[in-house]
Amino acid sequence: GNLVILDVDTGIDDALAIAYAVHSPELHILGITTCFGNATVAETTRNTLQVLDQLDTEDIPVIAGADKTFIQGEPREKAAWIHGENGLGDRDLPLPQRQPLPMKAHDFIISKVREYPHQVTLITVGSQTNLATAIQKDPEIVKLLRQVVVMGGAVTVPGNMTPYAEANIHGDPEAADFVFQSGVPITLVGLDVTMKTLLKRENLDDWRKKNTPVSRFLADICDFYMDAYHHEVDPSLGGCALHDPLAVGIVIDPSLVRTVPMSIQVKTEGEERGRTAGVEKQTSHIRVSLEVESDRFTSHFLDRVV
Ligand code: BDR
Ligand code: CA
Repeated sequence: GNLVILDVDTGIDDALAIAYAVHSPELHILGITTCFGNATVAETTRNTLQVLDQLDTEDIPVIAGADKTFIQGEPREKAAWIHGENGLGDRDLPLPQRQPLPMKAHDFIISKVREYPHQVTLITVGSQTNLATAIQKDPEIVKLLRQVVVMGGAVTVPGNMTPYAEANIHGDPEAADFVFQSGVPITLVGLDVTMKTLLKRENLDDWRKKNTPVSRFLADICDFYMDAYHHEVDPSLGGCALHDPLAVGIVIDPSLVRTVPMSIQVKTEGEERGRTAGVEKQTSHIRVSLEVESDRFTSHFLDRVV
C-alpha cells in the first residue's frame, strides 16, 4: 500500500480524517505526528490517542510535535469556537490507553522518510511546523519524500481566519513558506476545494441510526463542529467542511481533484499575512487543487469512515 504519515492538530475534522485513513486499506499509516493548532499540542496529542482508542487501533504510533511557531517560537491561540475547548467538541472521553512515542515529531518524520526512501507520503492537515523543522534539520528529505499533501491555504477564495488567510497557514506562515519554497513535491488542498465538500446534518443522523461505537462517537464530536459552521462560519452552506478528510481522499484517489501547477508565495507581512498567493507555472513542484468531484468524494468518505 501507500506509506503515509499523518500530521494533525486534532481537531474534529482531523478526527474524521484519521478514521477515514484508518479504514482505508490502500493506506499504511506509519505514524501520526501532532502539532499545535485547533488546540494546544498537549491536547491535540491526547485527542489523537483518544480517537485511535475509539477506533480500536493500538498499533499506530503517535508522536508529539511543535508547540510553538517555526521562526518566532511563539505559542498560538487555539480554535475553541470551531472545535471546542478540548479540541473534540467538548465531549468527555476516556483517558488515552497509551502514551505518545518518546521522540519529537520532526525526528520521526526524518527517520521514516530515510527508512523508506521515495515511498512516504506526508499528509499534513495542521500547520506545517513539524515538516519545516524536519526539512531544516535534514534538507535531503526533500528529495526522499514521495509527496506532501498539504491541507491549507486559499488560493482563489477568501481565507477563514482573516479575509486572506486559511487557519493552517495562519498558524505558522513562516513554516508554510519554508515548506513551499523547499522544492518538495506538494499537492495543495485548500479552501478552494474543501469548502465544496460538506458533511450534512442528515449524515450525523445516519451515523446515529447505524449506532456502532465509532459512528456514535463521530456523530457526537461532529455536533459541535456542525453548530459552529452554522453559527460562526456560514449557515447558508448547510453543513460543515470536510477539510482534512479531502487531503486523505486524494491520496487514495488523485482523480478526485483537478490540479494546476503553481508557484505559491506565503505573505508574511501586514494584513495579508498568511495569504497563499499563487501564480500558474508549468514547472512548479506545487500542484494546487482547484476543482473537486464533491459528490464522488463525499460518498467515498461516508462509505468508509464509520
Ligand atoms: C483547517 O483548520 C483546522 O481548523 C481544520 O482542522 C483544518 O485543518 C481548515 O482551515
Ligand atoms: Ca486540522
